[in-house]
Amino acid sequence: MSGVPVYLETFGCQMNELDSELVRGQLMRLGYAFVDDPDQAQVVLFNTCSVREHAESKAYSRIGIVGKRKAQGEQVLLGVLGCMAERDGLDMLRRYPQVDVLCGPGELDRLPALLDAARRSEAASQVERVALAGNRTRRSAVLSAVQDDLETLDLSRAFDPDAEGRRKHSAQVRITRGCNKFCTYCVVPYTRGAEVHRPPDHVIEECKRLADAGAIEITLLGQTVNHYRYEHGMAVTVGGREAPQIGPGLAAFRSEIPAGKRVTTFARLLQRIHDEVPAIQRLRFVTSYPRDFGRDILEVMRDCPRICRYLHAPAQSGSDRILGLMNRGYTRAEYEAFVQGVFEVLPDATLAGDIIVGFPGETDADFEATCDLVRTLPFKNNFIFKYSPRPGTIAIDRFTDDVPDEVKRLRNNQLLALQTHTSERVHAAWVGRTVPVLVEECYAPSTAPSRTAGGVELRWESREAAPARKALRGRTPGDLIVAMDAPAGTAPESLIGHIVHAHITNASALLLHGACVPEAVAAR
Ligand code: 5AD
Ligand code: SF4
Repeated sequence: MSGVPVYLETFGCQMNELDSELVRGQLMRLGYAFVDDPDQAQVVLFNTCSVREHAESKAYSRIGIVGKRKAQGEQVLLGVLGCMAERDGLDMLRRYPQVDVLCGPGELDRLPALLDAARRSEAASQVERVALAGNRTRRSAVLSAVQDDLETLDLSRAFDPDAEGRRKHSAQVRITRGCNKFCTYCVVPYTRGAEVHRPPDHVIEECKRLADAGAIEITLLGQTVNHYRYEHGMAVTVGGREAPQIGPGLAAFRSEIPAGKRVTTFARLLQRIHDEVPAIQRLRFVTSYPRDFGRDILEVMRDCPRICRYLHAPAQSGSDRILGLMNRGYTRAEYEAFVQGVFEVLPDATLAGDIIVGFPGETDADFEATCDLVRTLPFKNNFIFKYSPRPGTIAIDRFTDDVPDEVKRLRNNQLLALQTHTSERVHAAWVGRTVPVLVEECYAPSTAPSRTAGGVELRWESREAAPARKALRGRTPGDLIVAMDAPAGTAPESLIGHIVHAHITNASALLLHGACVPEAVAAR
Protein backbone atom coordinates (compact mmCIF):
# COMPACT_ATOMS: atom_id res chain seq x y z
CA MET A 1 0.00 0.00 0.00
CA SER A 2 3.05 2.09 0.16
CA GLY A 3 2.24 5.69 -0.53
CA VAL A 4 -1.30 5.21 -1.91
CA PRO A 5 -2.85 8.68 -1.44
CA VAL A 6 -6.05 8.67 0.62
CA TYR A 7 -8.50 11.47 1.31
CA LEU A 8 -10.77 11.08 4.34
CA GLU A 9 -13.63 13.45 5.12
CA THR A 10 -15.71 13.25 8.26
CA PHE A 11 -19.35 14.27 8.66
CA GLY A 12 -21.25 14.54 11.93
CA CYS A 13 -20.42 13.96 15.52
CA GLN A 14 -17.40 13.55 17.81
CA MET A 15 -17.88 9.78 17.71
CA ASN A 16 -17.29 9.96 13.95
CA GLU A 17 -14.23 12.16 14.44
CA LEU A 18 -12.76 9.53 16.74
CA ASP A 19 -13.63 6.75 14.30
CA SER A 20 -11.88 8.70 11.54
CA GLU A 21 -8.82 9.16 13.71
CA LEU A 22 -8.68 5.40 14.33
CA VAL A 23 -9.18 4.63 10.62
CA ARG A 24 -6.44 7.08 9.71
CA GLY A 25 -4.00 5.52 12.21
CA GLN A 26 -4.83 2.03 11.02
CA LEU A 27 -4.34 2.91 7.33
CA MET A 28 -1.19 4.95 7.95
CA ARG A 29 0.39 1.96 9.68
CA LEU A 30 -0.32 -0.01 6.51
CA GLY A 31 1.50 2.60 4.40
CA TYR A 32 -1.39 4.67 3.01
CA ALA A 33 -0.52 8.38 2.74
CA PHE A 34 -3.21 10.92 3.67
CA VAL A 35 -3.72 13.98 1.47
CA ASP A 36 -5.82 17.13 1.94
CA ASP A 37 -7.05 17.37 -1.63
CA PRO A 38 -9.57 14.75 -2.80
CA ASP A 39 -8.46 15.34 -6.42
CA GLN A 40 -4.99 14.02 -5.54
CA ALA A 41 -6.34 10.87 -3.87
CA GLN A 42 -6.60 7.38 -5.31
CA VAL A 43 -8.78 6.35 -2.37
CA VAL A 44 -11.56 8.68 -1.22
CA LEU A 45 -13.31 7.85 2.04
CA PHE A 46 -16.37 9.58 3.47
CA ASN A 47 -17.15 8.85 7.10
CA THR A 48 -20.84 9.66 7.10
CA CYS A 49 -23.60 10.60 9.54
CA SER A 50 -27.29 9.71 9.32
CA VAL A 51 -28.61 11.67 12.29
CA ARG A 52 -30.18 14.32 10.07
CA GLU A 53 -31.07 14.38 6.40
CA HIS A 54 -28.90 17.44 5.82
CA ALA A 55 -25.71 15.54 6.73
CA GLU A 56 -26.70 12.74 4.38
CA SER A 57 -27.41 15.14 1.49
CA LYS A 58 -23.97 16.68 1.91
CA ALA A 59 -22.34 13.26 1.72
CA TYR A 60 -24.40 12.30 -1.35
CA SER A 61 -23.28 15.44 -3.12
CA ARG A 62 -19.61 14.52 -2.42
CA ILE A 63 -20.32 10.98 -3.66
CA GLY A 64 -21.72 12.53 -6.84
CA ILE A 65 -18.52 14.53 -7.43
CA VAL A 66 -16.37 11.39 -7.12
CA GLY A 67 -18.81 9.65 -9.47
CA LYS A 68 -18.10 12.30 -12.13
CA ARG A 69 -14.35 11.75 -11.77
CA LYS A 70 -14.83 8.03 -12.22
CA ALA A 71 -17.08 8.59 -15.23
CA GLN A 72 -14.24 10.58 -16.81
CA GLY A 73 -12.03 7.51 -16.48
CA GLU A 74 -10.11 8.36 -13.31
CA GLN A 75 -9.04 5.39 -11.20
CA VAL A 76 -10.47 6.34 -7.81
CA LEU A 77 -11.65 3.95 -5.17
CA LEU A 78 -14.61 5.32 -3.20
CA GLY A 79 -15.45 4.08 0.27
CA VAL A 80 -18.48 5.15 2.30
CA LEU A 81 -17.96 4.55 6.02
CA GLY A 82 -20.14 5.16 9.04
CA CYS A 83 -23.84 5.39 9.63
CA MET A 84 -24.99 5.85 6.01
CA ALA A 85 -23.17 2.68 5.01
CA GLU A 86 -24.96 0.86 7.80
CA ARG A 87 -28.35 2.39 7.11
CA ASP A 88 -28.46 2.40 3.31
CA GLY A 89 -26.46 -0.79 2.76
CA LEU A 90 -27.02 -2.51 -0.56
CA ASP A 91 -29.49 0.16 -1.59
CA MET A 92 -26.65 2.67 -1.78
CA LEU A 93 -24.58 0.32 -3.94
CA ARG A 94 -27.50 -0.07 -6.30
CA ARG A 95 -28.17 3.65 -6.58
CA TYR A 96 -24.55 4.82 -6.53
CA PRO A 97 -22.49 2.37 -8.58
CA GLN A 98 -19.43 4.57 -8.05
CA VAL A 99 -19.26 3.36 -4.43
CA ASP A 100 -16.72 0.54 -4.14
CA VAL A 101 -16.67 -0.12 -0.41
CA LEU A 102 -19.29 0.21 2.29
CA CYS A 103 -18.24 -0.12 5.90
CA GLY A 104 -20.59 0.52 8.83
CA PRO A 105 -19.38 1.90 12.15
CA GLY A 106 -19.44 -1.58 13.66
CA GLU A 107 -17.06 -2.97 11.04
CA LEU A 108 -14.31 -0.38 10.79
CA ASP A 109 -11.69 -2.89 11.90
CA ARG A 110 -12.34 -4.69 8.59
CA LEU A 111 -11.78 -1.59 6.44
CA PRO A 112 -8.19 -2.42 5.35
CA ALA A 113 -9.32 -5.86 4.17
CA LEU A 114 -12.33 -4.39 2.33
CA LEU A 115 -10.14 -1.77 0.63
CA ASP A 116 -7.62 -4.41 -0.27
CA ALA A 117 -10.27 -6.67 -1.79
CA ALA A 118 -11.77 -3.77 -3.73
CA ARG A 119 -8.35 -2.68 -5.02
CA ARG A 120 -7.50 -6.17 -6.17
CA SER A 121 -10.84 -6.98 -7.71
CA GLU A 122 -13.11 -4.55 -9.45
CA ALA A 123 -15.57 -7.42 -9.48
CA ALA A 124 -15.74 -7.99 -5.74
CA SER A 125 -19.21 -9.26 -4.95
CA GLN A 126 -21.63 -6.89 -3.29
CA VAL A 127 -21.91 -9.16 -0.29
CA GLU A 128 -18.15 -9.00 0.12
CA ARG A 129 -18.26 -5.23 -0.13
CA VAL A 130 -21.02 -4.64 2.34
CA ALA A 131 -20.29 -4.47 6.00
CA LEU A 132 -22.50 -6.71 8.07
CA ALA A 133 -24.49 -5.62 11.05
CA GLY A 134 -21.55 -5.05 13.36
CA ASN A 135 -22.45 -5.19 17.00
CA ARG A 136 -26.13 -4.61 16.53
CA THR A 137 -27.13 -8.06 17.56
CA ARG A 138 -27.77 -8.45 21.25
CA ARG A 139 -25.75 -11.62 21.62
CA SER A 140 -25.10 -11.97 25.33
CA ALA A 141 -24.11 -9.73 28.17
CA VAL A 142 -20.46 -10.36 27.39
CA LEU A 143 -18.83 -9.82 24.06
CA SER A 144 -15.81 -11.99 23.73
CA ALA A 145 -12.83 -9.91 22.73
CA VAL A 146 -12.30 -12.34 19.87
CA GLN A 147 -15.70 -11.51 18.41
CA ASP A 148 -15.46 -7.86 19.31
CA ASP A 149 -12.74 -6.78 16.92
CA LEU A 150 -13.81 -3.18 17.26
CA GLU A 151 -12.27 -3.25 20.70
CA THR A 152 -8.99 -4.10 19.03
CA LEU A 153 -9.35 -1.05 16.80
CA ASP A 154 -9.81 1.23 19.81
CA LEU A 155 -6.96 -0.41 21.68
CA SER A 156 -4.55 -0.38 18.76
CA ARG A 157 -4.90 3.33 18.04
CA ALA A 158 -1.77 5.20 17.06
CA PHE A 159 -0.17 7.07 19.94
CA ASP A 160 2.30 9.06 17.91
CA PRO A 161 2.29 12.53 19.49
CA ASP A 162 2.88 14.05 16.07
CA ALA A 163 0.18 12.00 14.40
CA GLU A 164 -1.67 13.99 11.79
CA GLY A 165 -5.32 14.59 12.27
CA ARG A 166 -5.45 15.36 15.96
CA ARG A 167 -4.42 18.18 18.18
CA LYS A 168 -1.85 16.42 20.26
CA HIS A 169 -2.84 18.04 23.55
CA SER A 170 -6.46 16.98 23.25
CA ALA A 171 -7.78 13.46 22.66
CA GLN A 172 -10.99 11.47 22.77
CA VAL A 173 -11.50 8.07 24.32
CA ARG A 174 -14.58 5.96 23.79
CA ILE A 175 -16.08 4.39 26.89
CA THR A 176 -19.37 3.15 25.42
CA ARG A 177 -20.40 2.27 21.91
CA GLY A 178 -23.99 2.28 20.64
CA CYS A 179 -27.18 3.25 22.42
CA ASN A 180 -30.17 1.46 23.95
CA LYS A 181 -32.45 4.45 24.57
CA PHE A 182 -34.46 4.39 21.33
CA CYS A 183 -35.57 8.01 21.32
CA THR A 184 -38.22 7.85 18.62
CA TYR A 185 -36.50 10.31 16.24
CA CYS A 186 -33.01 8.84 16.40
CA VAL A 187 -31.13 6.46 14.08
CA VAL A 188 -28.19 5.84 16.39
CA PRO A 189 -29.52 2.65 18.08
CA TYR A 190 -29.92 1.19 14.58
CA THR A 191 -26.67 2.37 12.99
CA ARG A 192 -24.35 1.96 15.98
CA GLY A 193 -26.14 -0.91 17.62
CA ALA A 194 -26.60 -2.03 21.21
CA GLU A 195 -24.86 -0.24 24.06
CA VAL A 196 -21.49 -1.88 24.71
CA HIS A 197 -19.25 -0.76 27.57
CA ARG A 198 -15.50 -1.10 27.37
CA PRO A 199 -13.64 -2.61 30.32
CA PRO A 200 -12.38 0.15 32.65
CA ASP A 201 -8.81 -1.14 32.47
CA HIS A 202 -8.83 -0.73 28.68
CA VAL A 203 -10.09 2.85 29.00
CA ILE A 204 -7.47 3.72 31.62
CA GLU A 205 -4.68 2.12 29.63
CA GLU A 206 -5.70 4.18 26.59
CA CYS A 207 -5.79 7.39 28.67
CA LYS A 208 -2.31 6.65 30.05
CA ARG A 209 -0.88 6.05 26.61
CA LEU A 210 -2.45 9.25 25.29
CA ALA A 211 -1.02 11.17 28.25
CA ASP A 212 2.40 9.65 27.53
CA ALA A 213 2.03 10.88 23.95
CA GLY A 214 1.38 14.44 25.15
CA ALA A 215 -2.39 14.71 25.70
CA ILE A 216 -3.37 16.91 28.62
CA GLU A 217 -7.11 16.92 27.88
CA ILE A 218 -9.20 13.82 27.35
CA THR A 219 -12.87 13.72 26.43
CA LEU A 220 -14.64 10.46 27.22
CA LEU A 221 -17.21 9.61 24.56
CA GLY A 222 -20.49 7.75 24.74
CA GLN A 223 -24.04 8.45 23.58
CA THR A 224 -25.17 8.43 27.24
CA VAL A 225 -21.98 8.36 29.31
CA ASN A 226 -23.72 8.26 32.69
CA HIS A 227 -25.15 4.87 31.73
CA TYR A 228 -21.61 3.49 31.66
CA ARG A 229 -21.58 0.40 33.83
CA TYR A 230 -19.19 -2.52 33.84
CA GLU A 231 -19.85 -5.58 35.94
CA HIS A 232 -16.68 -7.43 36.88
CA GLY A 233 -16.31 -11.15 37.26
CA MET A 234 -18.92 -12.13 34.69
CA ALA A 235 -16.77 -11.84 31.58
CA VAL A 236 -15.05 -14.59 29.73
CA THR A 237 -11.61 -13.08 29.72
CA VAL A 238 -9.46 -13.49 26.70
CA GLY A 239 -5.73 -13.63 27.37
CA GLY A 240 -6.45 -12.70 30.99
CA ARG A 241 -8.23 -9.47 30.01
CA GLU A 242 -11.80 -8.44 30.53
CA ALA A 243 -14.01 -8.10 27.48
CA PRO A 244 -16.51 -5.42 26.42
CA GLN A 245 -19.96 -5.86 27.85
CA ILE A 246 -23.52 -5.16 26.68
CA GLY A 247 -25.16 -2.54 28.90
CA PRO A 248 -27.75 -3.55 31.50
CA GLY A 249 -31.40 -2.49 31.35
CA LEU A 250 -32.42 0.88 32.75
CA ALA A 251 -33.63 -0.77 35.95
CA ALA A 252 -29.98 -1.20 36.95
CA PHE A 253 -29.72 2.57 37.45
CA ARG A 254 -32.76 2.78 39.66
CA SER A 255 -31.67 0.35 42.38
CA GLU A 256 -28.68 -0.28 44.60
CA ILE A 257 -25.86 -2.45 43.30
CA PRO A 258 -26.70 -5.93 44.66
CA ALA A 259 -24.42 -7.21 47.44
CA GLY A 260 -21.57 -9.31 46.11
CA LYS A 261 -21.53 -7.65 42.65
CA ARG A 262 -18.43 -5.70 41.69
CA VAL A 263 -19.44 -2.91 39.34
CA THR A 264 -17.54 0.01 37.85
CA THR A 265 -20.05 2.84 37.57
CA PHE A 266 -19.45 6.01 35.57
CA ALA A 267 -18.61 7.87 38.80
CA ARG A 268 -16.03 5.22 39.69
CA LEU A 269 -14.56 5.28 36.17
CA LEU A 270 -14.12 9.06 36.35
CA GLN A 271 -12.50 8.80 39.77
CA ARG A 272 -10.10 6.07 38.59
CA ILE A 273 -9.00 7.99 35.48
CA HIS A 274 -8.55 11.15 37.56
CA ASP A 275 -6.46 9.37 40.18
CA GLU A 276 -4.54 6.97 37.96
CA VAL A 277 -3.69 9.35 35.11
CA PRO A 278 -2.59 12.55 36.85
CA ALA A 279 -0.95 13.91 33.69
CA ILE A 280 -4.44 14.56 32.31
CA GLN A 281 -5.16 18.14 33.34
CA ARG A 282 -8.69 18.13 32.00
CA LEU A 283 -11.05 15.21 31.95
CA ARG A 284 -14.32 15.81 30.11
CA PHE A 285 -17.17 13.67 28.92
CA VAL A 286 -20.07 13.83 26.44
CA THR A 287 -22.97 13.19 26.14
CA SER A 288 -24.88 13.04 29.42
CA TYR A 289 -28.40 11.67 29.56
CA PRO A 290 -30.54 13.89 31.81
CA ARG A 291 -31.95 10.83 33.56
CA ASP A 292 -30.01 8.55 35.90
CA PHE A 293 -27.30 11.15 36.42
CA GLY A 294 -26.52 10.17 40.00
CA ARG A 295 -25.29 12.44 42.75
CA ASP A 296 -22.27 10.13 43.02
CA ILE A 297 -21.09 11.48 39.64
CA LEU A 298 -21.57 15.10 40.74
CA GLU A 299 -19.67 14.43 43.96
CA VAL A 300 -16.74 12.91 42.09
CA MET A 301 -16.76 15.99 39.83
CA ARG A 302 -16.77 18.22 42.91
CA ASP A 303 -13.94 16.34 44.62
CA CYS A 304 -11.62 15.81 41.64
CA PRO A 305 -10.11 19.12 40.55
CA ARG A 306 -9.07 17.92 37.11
CA ILE A 307 -12.57 16.81 36.08
CA CYS A 308 -14.24 19.64 34.15
CA ARG A 309 -17.49 20.88 35.58
CA TYR A 310 -19.19 20.92 32.25
CA LEU A 311 -22.26 18.98 31.21
CA HIS A 312 -23.65 18.52 27.76
CA ALA A 313 -27.06 17.15 28.69
CA PRO A 314 -29.61 17.56 25.87
CA ALA A 315 -33.12 18.52 26.99
CA GLN A 316 -34.51 18.12 23.41
CA SER A 317 -37.80 19.85 24.35
CA GLY A 318 -39.46 21.74 27.19
CA SER A 319 -42.87 20.21 26.60
CA ASP A 320 -43.87 17.09 28.53
CA ARG A 321 -46.14 15.99 25.72
CA ILE A 322 -43.31 16.15 23.15
CA LEU A 323 -40.80 14.57 25.54
CA GLY A 324 -43.26 11.68 25.88
CA LEU A 325 -43.61 11.33 22.10
CA MET A 326 -39.83 11.42 21.83
CA ASN A 327 -39.55 8.61 24.41
CA ARG A 328 -36.97 10.61 26.32
CA GLY A 329 -37.94 9.05 29.64
CA TYR A 330 -38.16 12.26 31.71
CA THR A 331 -40.48 15.19 32.20
CA ARG A 332 -39.57 18.83 32.08
CA ALA A 333 -39.79 19.02 35.88
CA GLU A 334 -37.38 16.09 36.14
CA TYR A 335 -34.97 17.83 33.76
CA GLU A 336 -35.20 20.99 35.87
CA ALA A 337 -34.61 19.00 39.05
CA PHE A 338 -31.55 17.41 37.43
CA VAL A 339 -30.15 20.87 36.57
CA GLN A 340 -30.90 22.14 40.06
CA GLY A 341 -29.00 19.16 41.53
CA VAL A 342 -26.03 19.93 39.28
CA PHE A 343 -25.78 23.53 40.47
CA GLU A 344 -26.31 22.60 44.12
CA VAL A 345 -23.23 20.39 44.06
CA LEU A 346 -21.26 22.35 41.43
CA PRO A 347 -22.21 26.04 41.62
CA ASP A 348 -19.71 27.02 38.91
CA ALA A 349 -20.72 24.29 36.45
CA THR A 350 -21.63 25.10 32.85
CA LEU A 351 -24.51 23.49 31.05
CA ALA A 352 -25.06 22.92 27.33
CA GLY A 353 -27.56 20.90 25.35
CA ASP A 354 -29.42 20.02 22.18
CA ILE A 355 -32.97 20.88 21.22
CA ILE A 356 -35.16 19.65 18.38
CA VAL A 357 -37.83 22.03 17.04
CA GLY A 358 -40.75 20.99 14.86
CA PHE A 359 -41.11 17.46 16.18
CA PRO A 360 -44.35 15.91 14.82
CA GLY A 361 -47.37 17.47 16.48
CA GLU A 362 -45.40 20.29 18.13
CA THR A 363 -47.93 23.06 18.76
CA ASP A 364 -47.26 26.72 19.51
CA ALA A 365 -47.84 25.90 23.19
CA ASP A 366 -45.31 23.04 23.09
CA PHE A 367 -42.78 25.32 21.43
CA GLU A 368 -43.46 28.06 23.98
CA ALA A 369 -42.65 25.53 26.74
CA THR A 370 -39.27 24.95 25.07
CA CYS A 371 -38.70 28.71 24.79
CA ASP A 372 -39.43 29.00 28.48
CA LEU A 373 -36.88 26.31 29.29
CA VAL A 374 -34.22 28.16 27.30
CA ARG A 375 -35.14 31.46 28.99
CA THR A 376 -35.05 30.10 32.50
CA LEU A 377 -32.20 27.57 32.66
CA PRO A 378 -28.56 28.71 32.44
CA PHE A 379 -27.60 27.02 29.17
CA LYS A 380 -24.26 28.34 27.94
CA ASN A 381 -25.32 27.10 24.52
CA ASN A 382 -27.79 24.81 22.82
CA PHE A 383 -27.43 23.16 19.47
CA ILE A 384 -30.83 23.62 17.87
CA PHE A 385 -32.01 21.24 15.16
CA LYS A 386 -35.07 21.14 12.96
CA TYR A 387 -36.73 17.74 13.23
CA SER A 388 -35.65 15.55 10.34
CA PRO A 389 -37.61 12.33 9.78
CA ARG A 390 -35.16 9.45 9.54
CA PRO A 391 -35.95 6.19 7.77
CA GLY A 392 -35.96 3.25 10.13
CA THR A 393 -36.86 5.25 13.24
CA ILE A 394 -39.99 4.84 15.31
CA ALA A 395 -41.07 8.44 14.74
CA ILE A 396 -41.15 8.18 10.95
CA ASP A 397 -43.45 5.16 11.16
CA ARG A 398 -45.66 6.41 13.95
CA PHE A 399 -46.00 10.17 13.40
CA THR A 400 -46.63 12.50 10.47
CA ASP A 401 -43.97 15.15 9.92
CA ASP A 402 -46.71 17.78 10.12
CA VAL A 403 -44.86 20.93 11.16
CA PRO A 404 -44.19 22.83 7.91
CA ASP A 405 -40.55 23.54 7.16
CA GLU A 406 -41.20 27.27 7.27
CA VAL A 407 -42.54 26.95 10.83
CA LYS A 408 -39.54 24.80 11.83
CA ARG A 409 -37.26 27.49 10.42
CA LEU A 410 -39.05 30.29 12.28
CA ARG A 411 -38.98 28.33 15.55
CA ASN A 412 -35.32 27.54 15.02
CA ASN A 413 -34.49 31.24 14.57
CA GLN A 414 -36.66 32.34 17.46
CA LEU A 415 -35.01 29.84 19.78
CA LEU A 416 -31.54 30.84 18.59
CA ALA A 417 -32.35 34.46 19.48
CA LEU A 418 -33.54 33.43 22.94
CA GLN A 419 -30.47 31.27 23.42
CA THR A 420 -28.29 34.26 22.52
CA HIS A 421 -29.78 36.20 25.45
CA THR A 422 -29.29 33.27 27.80
CA SER A 423 -25.70 32.79 26.59
CA GLU A 424 -24.99 36.49 27.19
CA ARG A 425 -26.25 36.16 30.74
CA VAL A 426 -24.20 33.03 31.42
CA HIS A 427 -21.04 34.54 29.94
CA ALA A 428 -21.50 37.88 31.74
CA ALA A 429 -21.40 36.11 35.11
CA TRP A 430 -17.73 35.26 34.45
CA VAL A 431 -16.59 38.87 34.06
CA GLY A 432 -14.15 39.79 36.82
CA ARG A 433 -13.09 36.21 37.46
CA THR A 434 -9.75 34.60 36.67
CA VAL A 435 -9.98 31.31 34.82
CA PRO A 436 -7.56 28.68 33.51
CA VAL A 437 -7.57 28.55 29.71
CA LEU A 438 -6.24 25.69 27.61
CA VAL A 439 -4.81 27.53 24.61
CA GLU A 440 -5.90 26.03 21.29
CA GLU A 441 -5.08 28.57 18.60
CA CYS A 442 -3.34 31.82 17.77
CA TYR A 443 -5.17 34.29 15.62
CA ALA A 444 -4.72 37.74 14.25
CA PRO A 445 -7.59 39.92 15.43
CA SER A 446 -9.65 41.44 12.62
CA THR A 447 -7.12 41.18 9.82
CA ALA A 448 -8.02 37.95 8.07
CA PRO A 449 -11.13 36.47 6.51
CA SER A 450 -13.37 34.96 9.13
CA ARG A 451 -14.09 31.28 9.57
CA THR A 452 -16.29 29.37 11.92
CA ALA A 453 -14.84 27.39 14.80
CA GLY A 454 -17.18 25.44 17.06
CA GLY A 455 -20.05 27.57 15.83
CA VAL A 456 -18.19 30.78 16.67
CA GLU A 457 -17.16 33.36 14.14
CA LEU A 458 -13.55 34.30 14.67
CA ARG A 459 -10.96 35.92 12.53
CA TRP A 460 -7.97 33.82 11.77
CA GLU A 461 -4.72 33.99 9.93
CA SER A 462 -2.41 31.15 9.13
CA ARG A 463 0.67 30.91 11.30
CA GLU A 464 2.93 31.32 8.27
CA ALA A 465 1.50 34.77 7.61
CA ALA A 466 3.10 36.10 10.83
CA PRO A 467 0.76 39.02 11.54
CA ALA A 468 1.95 41.92 13.63
CA ARG A 469 -0.33 41.32 16.62
CA LYS A 470 -1.52 37.94 17.76
CA ALA A 471 -4.16 36.89 20.18
CA LEU A 472 -4.84 33.55 21.80
CA ARG A 473 -8.01 31.55 21.85
CA GLY A 474 -8.75 28.69 24.19
CA ARG A 475 -11.32 27.16 26.49
CA THR A 476 -12.09 27.19 30.18
CA PRO A 477 -12.77 23.92 32.02
CA GLY A 478 -16.45 24.78 31.53
CA ASP A 479 -15.91 24.91 27.75
CA LEU A 480 -16.36 28.68 27.50
CA ILE A 481 -14.29 30.19 24.71
CA VAL A 482 -11.80 32.85 25.80
CA ALA A 483 -10.04 35.32 23.52
CA MET A 484 -7.07 37.21 24.96
CA ASP A 485 -3.96 39.06 23.94
CA ALA A 486 -0.80 37.00 24.08
CA PRO A 487 1.38 37.93 27.08
CA ALA A 488 4.26 40.29 26.28
CA GLY A 489 7.61 38.64 25.73
CA THR A 490 6.21 35.19 24.94
CA ALA A 491 5.98 33.59 21.52
CA PRO A 492 2.20 33.05 21.30
CA GLU A 493 2.54 29.76 19.39
CA SER A 494 4.55 28.31 22.25
CA LEU A 495 1.46 28.54 24.46
CA ILE A 496 -0.70 26.31 22.26
CA GLY A 497 -1.49 23.17 24.20
CA HIS A 498 -0.69 24.82 27.54
CA ILE A 499 -2.94 26.12 30.29
CA VAL A 500 -2.61 29.85 31.01
CA HIS A 501 -4.70 32.04 33.30
CA ALA A 502 -6.94 34.82 32.06
CA HIS A 503 -8.65 37.61 33.92
CA ILE A 504 -12.03 38.06 32.22
CA THR A 505 -12.74 41.68 31.36
CA ASN A 506 -15.84 41.43 29.21
CA ALA A 507 -18.18 38.98 27.59
CA SER A 508 -20.55 38.43 24.71
CA ALA A 509 -22.95 35.61 23.84
CA LEU A 510 -20.17 33.58 22.25
CA LEU A 511 -16.94 34.69 23.85
CA LEU A 512 -15.20 35.78 27.00
CA HIS A 513 -12.49 38.38 26.54
CA GLY A 514 -9.60 38.42 28.96
CA ALA A 515 -6.04 39.32 29.73
CA CYS A 516 -3.34 36.82 30.53
CA VAL A 517 -2.16 36.93 34.14
CA PRO A 518 0.77 35.12 35.72
CA GLU A 519 -0.25 31.91 37.49
CA ALA A 520 0.86 33.26 40.86
CA VAL A 521 -1.63 36.12 40.53
CA ALA A 522 -4.34 33.75 39.35
CA ALA A 523 -3.91 31.52 42.37
CA ARG A 524 -4.70 34.32 44.80
N1 5AD B 1 -33.90 15.25 13.66
C1 5AD B 1 -33.33 16.35 14.21
N2 5AD B 1 -32.40 16.30 15.15
C2 5AD B 1 -32.00 15.08 15.57
N3 5AD B 1 -31.10 14.71 16.49
C3 5AD B 1 -31.04 13.38 16.53
N4 5AD B 1 -31.91 12.85 15.65
C4 5AD B 1 -32.53 13.90 15.04
C5 5AD B 1 -33.52 14.03 14.05
N5 5AD B 1 -34.08 12.94 13.50
C6 5AD B 1 -30.34 15.67 17.30
C7 5AD B 1 -30.64 15.50 18.80
C8 5AD B 1 -29.37 14.87 19.30
C9 5AD B 1 -28.34 15.47 18.37
C10 5AD B 1 -27.05 14.74 18.30
O1 5AD B 1 -28.97 15.44 17.12
O2 5AD B 1 -30.82 16.77 19.37
O3 5AD B 1 -29.10 15.17 20.66
FE1 SF4 C 1 -30.20 8.87 19.98
FE2 SF4 C 1 -31.61 9.06 22.25
FE3 SF4 C 1 -29.51 7.35 22.11
FE4 SF4 C 1 -29.08 10.00 22.16
S1 SF4 C 1 -30.01 8.80 23.81
S2 SF4 C 1 -28.11 8.50 20.76
S3 SF4 C 1 -30.85 10.82 21.00
S4 SF4 C 1 -31.43 7.22 20.94
